[in-house]
Amino acid sequence: MATEKKVTAIKNTPKHLLGIQNLSVLEAKEILTEAKSFIKLNRGSSKKLDVLRGKTQINLFFEPSTRTQSSFDLAGKRLGADVMTINMNNSSLKKGETLIDTAMTLNAMHPDIIVIRHQDSGAPNLLSQKVNCTVINAGDGRREHPTQALLDALTIINRKGNIEGLKIAICGDILHSRVARSNIYLMNMLGAEVNVIAPKTLMPNGIDNLGVKSFTDMKKGLDGCDIVMMLRLQNERMQGSFLPSKREYYEFFGLTPEKLKFAKKDALLMHPGPMNRGVEIDTKLADDINVSLVKEQVELGVAVRMACLKLYCK
Ligand code: NCD
Repeated sequence: MATEKKVTAIKNTPKHLLGIQNLSVLEAKEILTEAKSFIKLNRGSSKKLDVLRGKTQINLFFEPSTRTQSSFDLAGKRLGADVMTINMNNSSLKKGETLIDTAMTLNAMHPDIIVIRHQDSGAPNLLSQKVNCTVINAGDGRREHPTQALLDALTIINRKGNIEGLKIAICGDILHSRVARSNIYLMNMLGAEVNVIAPKTLMPNGIDNLGVKSFTDMKKGLDGCDIVMMLRLQNERMQGSFLPSKREYYEFFGLTPEKLKFAKKDALLMHPGPMNRGVEIDTKLADDINVSLVKEQVELGVAVRMACLKLYCK
């Protein structure tokens, strides 16, 4: 008798993970459930599975990355895939090759998954139309960073049990942040209330249409929040001057123990990294294990990426 294959929500949808905006609640929950099963494995002494044995994963990083690149690398290896990471600073891009030509070259080597980070919003979508394999977005311009939002969700669920009913503040450079956008979509989808807090110059026009409340004052924006997500100033995406000075930014928008008191008593702090201590966050607060989830975010990032690779690679 033929064995029936498990039908998953993701099975019937396109095989690319390009953003949270294209995900259904069912798909997001499926990824989170799958990721939970990898947390224990990653904490154990034997971490190797053969779920992706025989599969080839190429990591294409056109922008610097520490956490995302290394966790996609580890995730693929722990699932048994052959993983190749290409540092695009040493690639033929330097010789003038276009993204599409690079994609066609790699496609000819029959990869099963391409993980891409790119400075241009929409680059992973374009790539997905040109190759035969699964494409996973590891951050594109200021558009989306789906696996970051998923790992943030898993970290919150791990600590608070649920996302539904929580009040979450996202603070800092909302205008240029793909992490902010993906988190707004995902946290809303999972039933949280989302506040965004930024100086006027770093608040996108029409942000309220995404179902959030916007604030330019930390005291008001943090009021009653369970989670405070801090963001780095994306200087590499800024042309011209958005702020009078870093010192003044810290004064009004840097998270300090005093400002954290505006949130709930048991509020927890998150940051996708890399952190700029003394700019968007007080250095002691960043390391305070009673409130900071930063290390947990990194840890659970591997589990989330394992789940995405497993569910999307067919
Ligand atoms: C974020 C990114 O690259 O968008 N970092 C990350 O993936 N951990 C945030 C940032 O660079 O500020």
